[in-house]
Order: sequence, then C-alpha cells, then structure tokens
Amino acid sequence: MATSYSMSNSRVALITGGTKGIGFEVARLLAERGIEILIGSRDETKGEIAAEKLASENLPVTYVLIDVTNQATIDLAVTEVENSYGRLDILINNSSIYLPEPRPTELSLDMIRLNFEVNFFGAFSVTKAFMPLLRQSSAGRIVNISNDLGSFYVHQTSRQPQFHCAYSASKASLHMLTLQLANDLKATRIKVNACAPGSIHTDLTTHHEHATELATKPIIYLATLSDDGPTGKFFGQHCEEVKW
Ligand SMILES: NC(=O)c1ccc[n+]([C@@H]2O[C@H](COP(=O)([O-])OP(=O)(O)OC[C@H]3O[C@@H](n4cnc5c(N)ncnc54)[C@H](OP(=O)(O)O)[C@@H]3O)[C@@H](O)[C@H]2O)c1
Repeated sequence: MATSYSMSNSRVALITGGTKGIGFEVARLLAERGIEILIGSRDETKGEIAAEKLASENLPVTYVLIDVTNQATIDLAVTEVENSYGRLDILINNSSIYLPEPRPTELSLDMIRLNFEVNFFGAFSVTKAFMPLLRQSSAGRIVNISNDLGSFYVHQTSRQPQFHCAYSASKASLHMLTLQLANDLKATRIKVNACAPGSIHTDLTTHHEHATELATKPIIYLATLSDDGPTGKFFGQHCEEVKW
C-alpha cells in the first residue's frame, strides 16, 4: 500500500479491480463519504496512478496489489490490511473479465475456466482470505458485483436467447456463493449481497451507454447498508430486489 491511514476510525473498503470502470467510480463515491478506500489492482503502476488520482482530490484512497487469481498476492494484501487497519469493513468483489464468446455448443473448456478463474474463484478466494478481517468489523459488508446475465430468471424470460455461457455461468455461481455465505453468516454482523449494475461503457463492455449513476447506485447502497438491511439478496440498478 502506498499510504497508510491506520490511525483513522473511518470504515475501510477494498474494491478489487478498482483501477478503472465501475470499480474506480465506486472508489470515488465511497471515498467522498469519508470511507477509506483500498483500490485493488493486479498491476502496481495502474494501482498507483488510480489511487493517486483520487488522493490528489483529497480523498482517502490508496491501493493494494491484488490479483484475484494469485493466492500469494491475496495473502499479502490480507497481511497489509491487517497491519494497517486490523479489520476490513467493506469488500467489493468487482474484478471481472468479459470476453467475446461463441455459442455454448462451440464453447471451449478453456474459455469456461478463464471466466471462472476471475469471476468466481477470484471472488471466492478474496472473500475467504479476508473473512477473519471482515469478522473484526462492527458492520461487515460484502458486495458481489454480478450482471443480469448471471440471472436464470433473465435468461428464462428474455425474448432472444443471450449466449454468454461462460460469463453467465460464472456470475450465476457467484449468486450461489452470495446466498450460501449470507446464510452461513446470518448470526454475525456481516451482510452479503449481489447486484447487477446498469450497463455502462467501460473496457469490459463497449456497446452500452447509460448513466454511471445506475452502474454505481446499487453498489453504494449495498456497501453502506444499515444494520437492519437485507442479506443474501440480488439487486438491480435501481436498488430493487430482483430474481436470481
Ligand atoms: N460495464 C458494464 O456495463 C457492466 C454491466 C453489468 C455488470 N458489470 C460488472 O461490473 C464489474 C466491473 O465491470 P467494468 O465494466 O467496470 O469492467 P472494467 O472496466 O473492465 O474493469 C474490470 C476490472 O477488473 C480487473 N481485473 C481483471 N482481471 C483481474 C484479476 N485477475 N485480478 C484483479 N483484477 C482483475 C481489471 O484490471 P486490469 O485493468 O488490470 O485488467 C479492471 O480493473 C464487473 O464485475 C462486471 O461483470 C459491468
């Protein structure tokens, strides 16, 4: 981490893949609320540049090196956060890949593995590793960033079949992880939810154009949920509960 804010009592949030796109905007919006932000980046230079940009606006942002597919970087990040803060209040599993895919019958196992590696195993590994620090929080919040494409309901009711089997399956699995974790943690102060942000133009999707607000709104809502807020649910871009 480039800077330490260890003396502060503010909430501490880690956003994986926070160097650009939705993650970066969420970093800014949460930091503007006084939450100390750790931008997770698998690339030191990108992490440094992104954190510096927000820090130069006087926002409490630093970065932590974390490749969600590399357990050694995850473990190191846990140690750094533990040494600096002793806890983690908000974990946003945002890192993701979304690649052009052929139809399911043409899909390769490698493509499935690639998507699961980042979008599901990555989120699982980071969550598991940070669980002891999340348990130290007085109000732990885990937000898993998904997509409509991870919803069985959306695929069942869509007029046109949407063929992104590898990506969709990885996000559908993230939904199950969300639900299972929430149930397991029901007696604790940790809440676990998933959301499908509205589509916006980022490096991940080049064909949609909507307001950034719709992409970040449900994430901010779930990251800052009050103690009587929901757990184990899936939310849409207007912060409404939607079907898995
Ligand atoms: N954009 C949309 O319209 C949309 C719609 C619905 C849902 N979502 C979801 O929203 C989230 C953010 O998407 P986005 O559009 O903002 O994407 P993006 O701009 O491409 O950002 C994705 C982030 O994930 C990081 N990442 C990729 N592989 C990683 C790894 N192995 N370890 C750590 N970080 C990794 C990227 O880092 P590098 O720069 O190093 O590659 C980047 O910072 C994703 O979960 C996506 O599925 C997006």
